[in-house]
Amino acid sequence: MPRVAARVLTVTSALAALTAAIPLGPPARAAADSIIVGGRPVPVADSPWTVALASRDRFGGTRAGQFCGAVAVAPDKVLTAAHCLRQDVLGSEVSEVPDLRVIAGRDELSGPGGQEIPVRSAWINPAYESGSNAGDLAVLTLSSSLPAGSVIPMAADGDPAYEPGTPATVYGWGDTTGFGAYASVLHAADVEVLADGDCARAYPGGVKGAYDASSMLCAGRTAGGRDACQGDSGGPLVARGRLVGLVSWGSGCGSPTAPGVYTRVSAAIRWMAGEG
Ligand code: ARG
Repeated sequence: MPRVAARVLTVTSALAALTAAIPLGPPARAAADSIIVGGRPVPVADSPWTVALASRDRFGGTRAGQFCGAVAVAPDKVLTAAHCLRQDVLGSEVSEVPDLRVIAGRDELSGPGGQEIPVRSAWINPAYESGSNAGDLAVLTLSSSLPAGSVIPMAADGDPAYEPGTPATVYGWGDTTGFGAYASVLHAADVEVLADGDCARAYPGGVKGAYDASSMLCAGRTAGGRDACQGDSGGPLVARGRLVGLVSWGSGCGSPTAPGVYTRVSAAIRWMAGEG
């Protein structure tokens, strides 16, 4: 689809221009814990753009410091959720984390495989609002490039991948139960893109949170049971081979009445281009 290809190029240059990024200190030491409910273990080689965001300094070494997911959209740029970099998550400003890194190509978090690549700088979407979760996007620049072929194209506005009913898959190392059972191998769950009206009905505001169709997307199953969960945040939701969402929030995990809410990637493309 030529229109999408052109848009991807624009995005790549927009990514290169993210100069207001927060520089991180010299990469010192390496990279917490966390998956997906109703999913299945998958080899990371099948979705090489799925990476773990980790800091052993902040989250301990048991699972290589994994605490969120992220997704590569250029060899040295990964997208994640802005809320993953909040001070209440990290215990300090992101710039003070000595060993923020992504882990790529590793099936078993505590194992030796793949690569750990330090994060050189972080750009937090200025439109991110922690109260509503709107604009939940951060872009990390890596200190070296990921292996060739580890990037996924982003779905721009109008891409059929956003149509309600489209099969989609979410990937992560987060909680597999909703009760703190964090996975050590990558999991994936098959869900579908839901209609904005259904998302808005599930999240009308108040204690359950408010769905905003301009910056969010929701996905799940009418029967529930398959969803992202704690620790999956920032990781990819993929439909038709393209990135449509980043795990952002939800009420519980896998509830039939409360689908997973994702950062809408077409909106992320606009934020990265400085288009608010
Ligand atoms: N906020 C969570 C995290 O930081 C992600 C929650 C996603 N929840 C859901 N039901 N899809 O990991």
